[in-house]
Amino acid sequence: MNAPGQDARADQEWAVRADGLVKIFGTNRAVDGVDLSVAAGTVYGVLGPNGAGKTTTINMLATLMRPDAGTARIFGHDVVREPQIVRQLIGVTGQFASVDETLSATENLVIFARLLGLGRAESRAKAADLLERFGLTDAARRPLKNFSGGMRRRLDLAASLISQPPLIFLDEPTTGLDPRTRGQMWDTIRALVASGSTVLLTTQYLDEADQLADRIAVIDSGRVVAEGTSDELKASVGTSSLQLRMENPADTAVAVREVERVLGVRAALSPEASRITAPMADAERVTDLLIALRRADVRLAEMSVQKPTLDEVFLTLTGHDAADQDTNTGNTIPLEKEEVLA
Ligand SMILES: Nc1ncnc2c1ncn2[C@@H]1O[C@H](COP(=O)(O)OP(=O)(O)O)[C@@H](O)[C@H]1O
Ligand SMILES: [Mg+2]
Repeated sequence: MNAPGQDARADQEWAVRADGLVKIFGTNRAVDGVDLSVAAGTVYGVLGPNGAGKTTTINMLATLMRPDAGTARIFGHDVVREPQIVRQLIGVTGQFASVDETLSATENLVIFARLLGLGRAESRAKAADLLERFGLTDAARRPLKNFSGGMRRRLDLAASLISQPPLIFLDEPTTGLDPRTRGQMWDTIRALVASGSTVLLTTQYLDEADQLADRIAVIDSGRVVAEGTSDELKASVGTSSLQLRMENPADTAVAVREVERVLGVRAALSPEASRITAPMADAERVTDLLIALRRADVRLAEMSVQKPTLDEVFLTLTGHDAADQDTNTGNTIPLEKEEVLA
């Protein structure tokens, strides 16, 4: 155990330290003992399917819900005992929901900045700066009602940055966005981190966590089922994936037979048929396979051995697909009045 002084120093380096967080709704243990450690200056991804407990976890970290058990500290400050300090250290997207649709993006941001106590000139400068950073300068004067979903998300993110919080919570920042807008959002998030912010984002998308997060916690039914870098999570599943493409598509059937015989696994044929994929427990076995293919006169156009995708990792860790819907939840969350901590 560290001496108290060392603990205090270490706390500064952790943007988030959560220990055994629990939140119970009726009989539903929505968050069931979650530990999280997010180093300052990094992007941390909380990955899990709908209903896993991601939003509830963020709500507790952001002082919007009181944990039923466990503790959480934001840059060393306890979320239950020091909520006012914690709130000054964080930005949460979604707070910007109650904006005036008839006003322009600039006007909305200025109002928001004034509400946070910034002066008139400072508010205008801040609004212009943020709109430029988020590629919204051209739309600055347009009323919000003409904004697309992607533009709204970016404006929401811009608004959460007015107070320049060192830690930003992004709850499913790209859910429901088209691929192009999603890519723009990813760039925005990367720029945010490059400018020194710490980001904790939740996502249902494996590739999003893979692309953006330095570390990932996989959460399922209120529990962290795996934690690490994306490479560590992939490695923890411990298999490689073999991909083969035949020079002559007519050889495919023979190649499938050889793969299954030598590796002792089932091979999958891709739609364009001359491509074979197969799981491998041991990358070393590929040598035996190559010899067997040469003997069978099969010529390869392409061969690779890759780490499994995060999708495969998720399936292995949780026993179900990331896209599976939780049975006890839909997209609508039952309304229950939550106390907001004073
Ligand atoms: N305010 C609430 N009252 C009752 N149940 C809730 C409430 N918020 C969330 N839940 C339930 O808690 C579980 C986790 O929900 P949530 O944290 O929203 O998951 P996620 O954000 O990962 O989709 C779900 O079963 C959901 O129905
Ligand atoms: Mg959620």
